Amino acid sequence: MTWAKPREMRLCPSVLSADFAKLGEELAAVQRAGADFLHLDVMDGQFVPNVTFGPIIVTACRKLTSLPLDVHLMVANPVRFVEGFARAGADHITVHLEAVIDAVAAARAIRDRGLRAGVAIKPGTPIERLLPILPEIDIALVMTVEPGAGGQAFLAQSPKRIARVRAAIDAQDLDCLLQVDGGIAPDTIARAADAGADTFVAGHSVFRAHAPGEPPDPEAGVRALREALRPAAARGQRPPAS
Ligand code: DX5
Ligand code: ZN
Repeated sequence: MTWAKPREMRLCPSVLSADFAKLGEELAAVQRAGADFLHLDVMDGQFVPNVTFGPIIVTACRKLTSLPLDVHLMVANPVRFVEGFARAGADHITVHLEAVIDAVAAARAIRDRGLRAGVAIKPGTPIERLLPILPEIDIALVMTVEPGAGGQAFLAQSPKRIARVRAAIDAQDLDCLLQVDGGIAPDTIARAADAGADTFVAGHSVFRAHAPGEPPDPEAGVRALREALRPAAARGQRPPAS
């Protein structure tokens, strides 16, 4: 069974920007709005300066939503944590190319647990380093901000990098999602989609207030992203011009 095809667009709200005091309500809202995966950002204070959470939050989310749990490990030596996050209920685990010696072996360790395996690449790492391992992974995550915090601006060099990965996936007809993460909002998502992304992580644009003085509305946030994607999704369905 294929998983990445046909090229449908998937939205992944990032829990990092949610209100943890009412996580149940927030997750219900994004699920109601048609989110596809729930993205969980794990940071260890080493690979990135910030510290977030470990498997217990994944366990809590597992009880609160039936969405697939997409765990993004921004940690040093991530393979040692695969077992714990798998037990907590993760469906996908993504590790950073920069945090492992052998990304293919890391992906194998994740797949051996029956999970989808992702590999992420930071904005400053040459994109050529990701291309050879695409046949061995389920998710290629092209970071569109420097990892470590939500609410940053989408980096202008991102579409070029996304396009390189899309070309490699299509040339080999690979069953691999092309995910982007960072600064994804209604005014940037089409740029990422037109470059070839099909899976979009969004924190601030889903969970934070959309206008000054307004209360956050995660359901409206997901819908606004879906709406902003519509023209790009239609362009993506067209066969390439010959
Ligand atoms: C950044 C994280 C992101 C973050 C995105 O290091 O990996 O997943 O939550 O947040 P926004 O969408 O606010 O840029
Ligand atoms: Zn992330």
